[in-house]
Amino acid sequence: MNSNWFKGVMRLTKVKIGKRVTLKGVPVIFNQKGATLNIGDDVMIKSSFLSNLVGLYSRTIIVTRTANARIVIGNHVGISGATIYAREEITIGEGTLIGGNVKILDNDFHPVEIEARLANDTRRIGTRPIHVGKNCFIGCNALILKGTELGEGCVVGAGTVVSGQFEAGSVIVGNPGRVIRSNVNE
Ligand SMILES: CC(C)(COP(=O)(O)OP(=O)(O)OC[C@H]1O[C@@H](n2cnc3c(N)ncnc32)[C@H](O)[C@@H]1OP(=O)(O)O)[C@@H](O)C(=O)NCCC(=O)NCCS
Repeated sequence: MNSNWFKGVMRLTKVKIGKRVTLKGVPVIFNQKGATLNIGDDVMIKSSFLSNLVGLYSRTIIVTRTANARIVIGNHVGISGATIYAREEITIGEGTLIGGNVKILDNDFHPVEIEARLANDTRRIGTRPIHVGKNCFIGCNALILKGTELGEGCVVGAGTVVSGQFEAGSVIVGNPGRVIRSNVNE
């Protein structure tokens, strides 16, 4: 698709787009006023059903939800029908591949306590930054939850639910995500 018009829309909302960013299908990319949303060079963003033959259930969605939020996506990152949704901060290291239908959420969307939830008190929404290192591989349908840190070269298995800090070169699978191999690149 000729994505120039969409890149124009992104720039209007102050999304910083690198060189040679390729869009397959139309993503949803929304940058809150005052927030930071940077997409590096040579990034591939897939959003149409068969743009990844794993089958995408939804378009790629990349959203900064508060004026202080920050999303930084490094060079050579691949994203397939994933949601990347930040109230605070999500960084994705260079060369990382994000598989089909992955969700990366730095917040819970709603407060845990009933009173705060009914009052729609957004200050009480659990929120912690997520940092994904360089050259990670996140399998399809994984969930990356608030506060997660993945060191360089981590692999996250398909359907894994990840929460916590993981050393570089860990292979993490299951629910809750546990390390089954370490230092895979040494
Ligand atoms: C994580 C992964 C790379 C591991 O591959 P591997 O190193 O060859 O590991 P194995 O297949 O030998 O499995 C090792 C163990 O982990 C378990 N396991 C592997 N992947 C798992 C997963 N996603 N969830 C839960 N358990 C998993 C296996 O059952 C096995 O358990 P066992 O030792 O008790 O028998 C692979 O299983 C995977 O999930 N690939 C992602 C595929 C994908 O989503 N691609 C992108 C599409 S867009």
